[in-house]
Amino acid sequence: MLERGDQLVRSAAKIGSCVPAFTIYNLETMQAALEASRLAGRDVILAFGAGYLENADFDVIARMADSLVRKHPYRVALHLDHCRSLKLLKEAARVGFTSLMYDGSGDDFALNVQETREARIIADQYNCSLEGELGGLNNEDGTGDAPTIALYTDPVLAHRYVQETNVDILAVSVGNAHGEYKGAPHISLDRLRELRDRTSIPLALHGSSGIPSATLTEAVACGIRKINVNTEVALAATAHARHMLAEKDKLRMEALCKGIRAEMARIMGTYFI
Ligand code: 13P
Repeated sequence: MLERGDQLVRSAAKIGSCVPAFTIYNLETMQAALEASRLAGRDVILAFGAGYLENADFDVIARMADSLVRKHPYRVALHLDHCRSLKLLKEAARVGFTSLMYDGSGDDFALNVQETREARIIADQYNCSLEGELGGLNNEDGTGDAPTIALYTDPVLAHRYVQETNVDILAVSVGNAHGEYKGAPHISLDRLRELRDRTSIPLALHGSSGIPSATLTEAVACGIRKINVNTEVALAATAHARHMLAEKDKLRMEALCKGIRAEMARIMGTYFI
């Protein structure tokens, strides 16, 4: 059975660890994430971005996830990532998502609070956990400028946001960015510690692809309990496809899918910090 995202995250917090949330948008990405979880012996979050509705709809994703987790030995949450529409958020919850993210980070503080409070009502109605976001991040597909220090999450506002919205998990901006990093990423551990101490709730680090595992481990020690990963897996998948296609003339699609799935599972396996 799919579980609420906050349950997995809180269990990880008890042992000073975190849960990876891998972006999924079809059968292969889901199978890869579950295979990586099985091999690591750890819980996992399957994260479907609201921006991926052209790849599959909520109902198909929810039914596939529900079916696959029945045979899975570790706990799994089905998460709606970066949703900016309360209507879509409700739709996902209605068909079986167990974890929701309302992303109002692009709005001003008051509107973000107001909309996230409405998302809280929907989440409670369907027994889902809720993640909110405060601070600036670039777009999920890596486009847009990487956030500057001025856009990092403000700890005082974060405290107010958590008090006023009652989110279970808070996504923060502390030097992280979606997509490929230009140069070594600099994650502000001081800012993270302050956010952890002011909010007292689990923090999520988006844009975790390409952050060295030593840095991720430090971030986890400073309160990160959920790390979101997509880019490295997605790029490894297409690089592997190129390699397989170059190796064999008349490569069949079913073989390609299997090869890509194994490669995605291999990369995902490196994110169980
Ligand atoms: P990356 O694509 O940079 O790994 O980020 C994924 C993410 O944060 C999805 O919410």
